[in-house]
Amino acid sequence: MNPKEYYVSYNTVHALVKDLAGRLLETGYDPDVIVAIGSGGFIPARIIKTFINRPIYAVGISYYGLDNKHRDRPTKIQWIDEVQSQLTGKKLLLIDEVDDSRVTLAYCIGELLKYQPEEIAVLVLHNKIKEKDVDFPVEIKRYFAGIEIPDLWIKYPWDANDILAHTEAERQMFEDNKELRYG
Ligand code: G4P
Ligand code: MG
Repeated sequence: MNPKEYYVSYNTVHALVKDLAGRLLETGYDPDVIVAIGSGGFIPARIIKTFINRPIYAVGISYYGLDNKHRDRPTKIQWIDEVQSQLTGKKLLLIDEVDDSRVTLAYCIGELLKYQPEEIAVLVLHNKIKEKDVDFPVEIKRYFAGIEIPDLWIKYPWDANDILAHTEAERQMFEDNKELRYG
């Protein structure tokens, strides 16, 4: 079986975030603030606050335009107030749902680095195994993906119309595609 879509349930999101939080804390990192890249990073950010209780700042970056075509470059659609005092010298935990082309992530990291944080740790639920369009800046020493997956279109639970059918689709996917299982 070769699925085109990769279903992810809320329970899986929660488990991946808990695992990520544990792996980050094991490195001795003690973040001051969480930065969530919206909108996909919002729910993971709230869940990680259960395990690493820090304030959450939300940023919005748009790369796919409304017509679903890539813009030339990512653009900021929401940013942090009084950004200097919030970020300079701070240890940041940046969270997003997926590391796909890496363009949005790298752009966001570049913008955050302008405020000279002490460090930025990067967490994503899913890293797609593929050639990335850009690399992370050298400043990124702590990067964790909840799980590495093939280059499939991920169906996140927050996009589901029928959440019970969505959750069942994940179960069926793991049953039909044993190689996709983990944990
Ligand atoms: P990256 O830096 O995180 O790799 O992101 P990239 O610029 O490649 O992705 C552009 C947009 O496409 C991002 O959403 C990202 O979340 C979304 N995306 C990429 N792959 C998938 C996928 O497999 N499934 C889903 N559902 N989304 C994917 P965005 O424009 O930031 O918007 P939002 O959806 O987070 O609000
Ligand atoms: Mg996103």
